Amino acid sequence: MGVDHVMLRPVAEDDLPVLERFLWDPEAAGSFEWHGWKDPGLWRRRWAENGLLGDDAGQLLVVCGDDRLGFVAWRKVVTSQLSFCWQIGIALVPEARGRGYGTEAQRLVVRYLFAHTQAARIEAGTEVTNIAEQRALEKAGFTREGVLRSYGFRDGQWRDAVLYSVLRDDVLPERDPA
Ligand SMILES: CC(C)(COP(=O)(O)OP(=O)(O)OC[C@H]1O[C@@H](n2cnc3c(N)ncnc32)[C@H](O)[C@@H]1OP(=O)(O)O)[C@@H](O)C(=O)NCCC(=O)NCCS
Repeated sequence: MGVDHVMLRPVAEDDLPVLERFLWDPEAAGSFEWHGWKDPGLWRRRWAENGLLGDDAGQLLVVCGDDRLGFVAWRKVVTSQLSFCWQIGIALVPEARGRGYGTEAQRLVVRYLFAHTQAARIEAGTEVTNIAEQRALEKAGFTREGVLRSYGFRDGQWRDAVLYSVLRDDVLPERDPA
C-alpha cells in the first residue's frame, strides 16, 4: 500500500509496544532522536490517563492499512498572553522510513490540527544535519525560518537546529470534488 493509504488514528493499548520501542531501542529512535534510556512505563501511564490526547499535547499513530509505521506528536507552545502555537514531532520505525510516509503523516497532522483547533501556526524543529526531516517538512508545506544555534544537547554535543513553520493561511482549503 502506498502513501495514499497513510492515516492517523488514536493509539490503542495494543499499539503501545510500537511507541515503547522508541524508548528502549536506540536503533528504532534513530541517531537524531536517541537521548538515552527513559522511563519505559512513560507512554503506558500517559495513555491510561488520557489516551495520549490531552488539551496541551497529543500523539496519534501513523498507519498504512494494518502496518503501524510510528507516531506523530504535538505540544502547545505559548507565544503570548493570548496565543499559542503547536510544535509537532514525528518518529517512524526504521522499516517505514524513506518511502514518503513521513511527508504524508506530517501533512495529515497539520490538516488535523488546523481542522480541530484554532491555532494559526504549527512549527517544527530539527537538527541541521537531519536532512530527511527537513525535506519531509518542506514537501509537507512548511517554510524554513532559520537556524537556532546550539539549541539541543544530544550525544555529548550542543547541536544547531532548523526551525520550520506552516501557517493556517499557507494551507489552501481542500477543494470540494464536486
Ligand atoms: C525524519 C522522518 C520522519 C522522515 O520521514 P521519511 O518517511 O523517512 O521521509 P520521506 O520518505 O517522506 O522523504 C522525505 C524526503 O527526505 C529524503 N530522505 C529520506 N531519507 C533520507 C535520508 N536518510 N537522508 C537524506 N534524505 C532523505 C527523501 O528522499 C525525500 O526527499 P526527496 O523527495 O527530495 O527525494 C523519518 O525518517 C524518521 O522517523 N526518522 C527518525 C526520527 C526523526 O528523525 N524524526 C524527526 C526528528 S525532529
